[in-house]
Amino acid sequence: MAHQTVIVLDFGGQYNQLIARRVRECNVYCEVKPYTTPLAELKAMNPIGIIFTGGPNSVYEEGSPKVDPEIFTWGVPVLGICYGCQLMAHTLGGQVTPAQDDTAREYGKTETWYNTNSPIFKGLPQQGISWMSHGDYMAQVPQGFELVAHSANCPNVAIANEEKGFYGVQYHPEVNHTENGVKMIRNFLYEVCHAAGDWTMEDYKNTAIAAIREKVGDGKVLLALSGGVDSSVCAALLAEAVGSQLTCVFVDHGLMRKNEGDEVEAAFSKWAMNFVRVDAESRFLAKLAGVEEPEHKRKIIGEEFIRVFEEEAKKIGAVDFLAQGTIYPDVIESGAGDAAVIKSHHNVGGLPDYVDFKEILEPLRLLFKDEVRQLGRELQLPEYLVSRQPFPGPGLAIRVIGDLTKEKLDTLRDADAIYREEIAAAGEDKNINQYFAVLTNTRSVGVMGDGRTYDYTLALRAVTTSDFMTADWARIPYDLLDKISVRIVNEVPGINRICYDITSKPPATIEWE
Ligand code: XMP
Repeated sequence: MAHQTVIVLDFGGQYNQLIARRVRECNVYCEVKPYTTPLAELKAMNPIGIIFTGGPNSVYEEGSPKVDPEIFTWGVPVLGICYGCQLMAHTLGGQVTPAQDDTAREYGKTETWYNTNSPIFKGLPQQGISWMSHGDYMAQVPQGFELVAHSANCPNVAIANEEKGFYGVQYHPEVNHTENGVKMIRNFLYEVCHAAGDWTMEDYKNTAIAAIREKVGDGKVLLALSGGVDSSVCAALLAEAVGSQLTCVFVDHGLMRKNEGDEVEAAFSKWAMNFVRVDAESRFLAKLAGVEEPEHKRKIIGEEFIRVFEEEAKKIGAVDFLAQGTIYPDVIESGAGDAAVIKSHHNVGGLPDYVDFKEILEPLRLLFKDEVRQLGRELQLPEYLVSRQPFPGPGLAIRVIGDLTKEKLDTLRDADAIYREEIAAAGEDKNINQYFAVLTNTRSVGVMGDGRTYDYTLALRAVTTSDFMTADWARIPYDLLDKISVRIVNEVPGINRICYDITSKPPATIEWE
């Protein structure tokens, strides 16, 4: 695809994906590459600029990540952030040392003064907050560089060699705590790299459709559609590109939220593709009968899902392409291999062994989640699909605690629908990243009318989070909680008590199972 490209060279910092997203928000395409990528490969990408990310190391330590110094001789502008800034200084003959005293070490929000004559600070206020996180100090900046920002404790918050197009900042412009951080990144892209701003979703859609058509030719494509954002957008894009050559298999396991299966089906009715909805509720419930242990439930659902999909694929016969909704964070995410398994996530993956196909098609593999949603809107998918909150592959099976029955699932569906309706009606869905109801297996005594009840307790869960790795419980207004509680207890038989989950993650997880 003929877009200008910026390379984000990854030195292991925790905000690297955020840097890439900021660049793309500025309508410039970028890719994240590990710092070990050979120079020849980087050159072949023909970038208009390179951004060195932060990282946990110190440049003077033995074995710390380095770059080939030749990167500074091929005439491409470089912006170094934090470690990236120190690395540039170190490589070009400056001196980086551990901060001698507490004052030179900076963490958190720091008042900063910018030289607005420098291209990267053009149009910014002269003073603002920048977010720092560094324990090292540039004792001497390389020859040819000038100081273009300072704080009370640090004379060289930003350095610049305007002639060469090299800039370095000690702070993190990509995080929200930094005022005008994105403006600085935009300046680097447009004032220094002279970007054309040619990355827009409309262009991407058109280019992707053309590329899919060329690759697929008159071949057949198969996609497992879950109804989640990624597989839905992938389906819409493929439907737009190759229409009736596409078959989407939607395995309805009976563990979806209220009306969800019908909504997914309706959303795709406008395309001329083959849509196969497999009603597999009874076979999933039969397999899950009497199973209480969460990991066991996940395993059964994952395996059964593959089995159903495999059977449908056999009916369709050999296909040329198996499509998957892989997105960019899945591609660049690394280092997760050693992490302890807290919950084995079941997703529509691991299918290739079971289906007869020639090649894999992953048309979203360069997009971030926000961009996938944008593309969905561009393809005119309904908003309820595009802005859908995350929903686990095993669905409501892990939101009915313990033993599953159809009755319990229906009870949960009704309660969850009321909860979601009220949260959305109050506009709170904009502030909360994920919210759902959980049917516990605790029953308690209540009184309704003049009679005693002995019914289930429902838990409401709502969290705010940016990455779903950590989360805080959402501060839903009491009056709204009250309204939800009254409606559920009155409208849903079998529930006589409502609790609100006020634990963050960690120590709890977002889901209950
Ligand atoms: P936890 O409960 O681990 O959830 O804090 C983090 C995020 O992952 C979702 N989740 C799953 N997604 N398959 C999925 O596809 C799963 O088995 C699964 N379990 C949890 C959860 O909804 C939250 O967004």
